[in-house]
Amino acid sequence: MADGYLEKRMAEFSAGSKKTVKHVSLDTLFEKNRSYRGYKKDFVVTHDMLKRIVNVNTKIASGKNQQVLRFKLVTKGDDADFVLQNIKLGGMLPELHLPYQGTEPEAFIIICTSAPETKIIDIDLGISMQSMSLKATEMGLNCVMICAFNKANITEHFRLPYEPLAILAVGKGAEKIKLKTISVDESRAYYRVDGVHYVPKVKIEDILL
Ligand SMILES: Cc1cc2nc3c(=O)[nH]c(=O)nc-3n(C[C@H](O)[C@H](O)[C@H](O)COP(=O)(O)O)c2cc1C
Repeated sequence: MADGYLEKRMAEFSAGSKKTVKHVSLDTLFEKNRSYRGYKKDFVVTHDMLKRIVNVNTKIASGKNQQVLRFKLVTKGDDADFVLQNIKLGGMLPELHLPYQGTEPEAFIIICTSAPETKIIDIDLGISMQSMSLKATEMGLNCVMICAFNKANITEHFRLPYEPLAILAVGKGAEKIKLKTISVDESRAYYRVDGVHYVPKVKIEDILL
């Protein structure tokens, strides 16, 4: 980000700084919490960083407080390469074949359910992914939620004891992303112009009933 916000936050978190960090509004976090499909290769996400992100699951809401979600952490290496081969990014821009070479994500959180999938568990999944994504953003990292992945291959490769429902890719984003306010009758498909990724969001007046 141009204002150096993410870099400053990352430096503080990397250094394990105990100093009080400046208050960041939730609105700012929501704005920065975009789906990134390209990441910087010179930044390596560690197991500890992923664990801190997953730790939000010890504090969030859960239907009937069941807490049936389980998490497999994957950091840079052969396993991450395998995940990469089994996910689909940017399905609405197939001609771009995202991610671009040299910007592939290298760290992942595979989210599984230890109970048969239900509507309530799917809602828990959404709360979990959004919470983890916001936490990553606070840490100066970026994410993309992935539901388009090869479930059978991922289950077999990692010998997962439970069904994987989604994958969160984590890294330091290498893309310029902007929100674009639209009316409800305009296209909601994301698009790219001059290297900038635009994400249309329907304006408040059009979502109120
Ligand atoms: C449930 C869910 C599943 C998603 N699955 C994928 C996916 O498989 N691949 C992908 O590139 N993006 C995926 N996304 C990201 C969406 O495309 C993204 O949220 C949307 O384009 C809006 O962009 P934004 O997150 O920056 O607001 C998913 C998002 C959600 C909430």
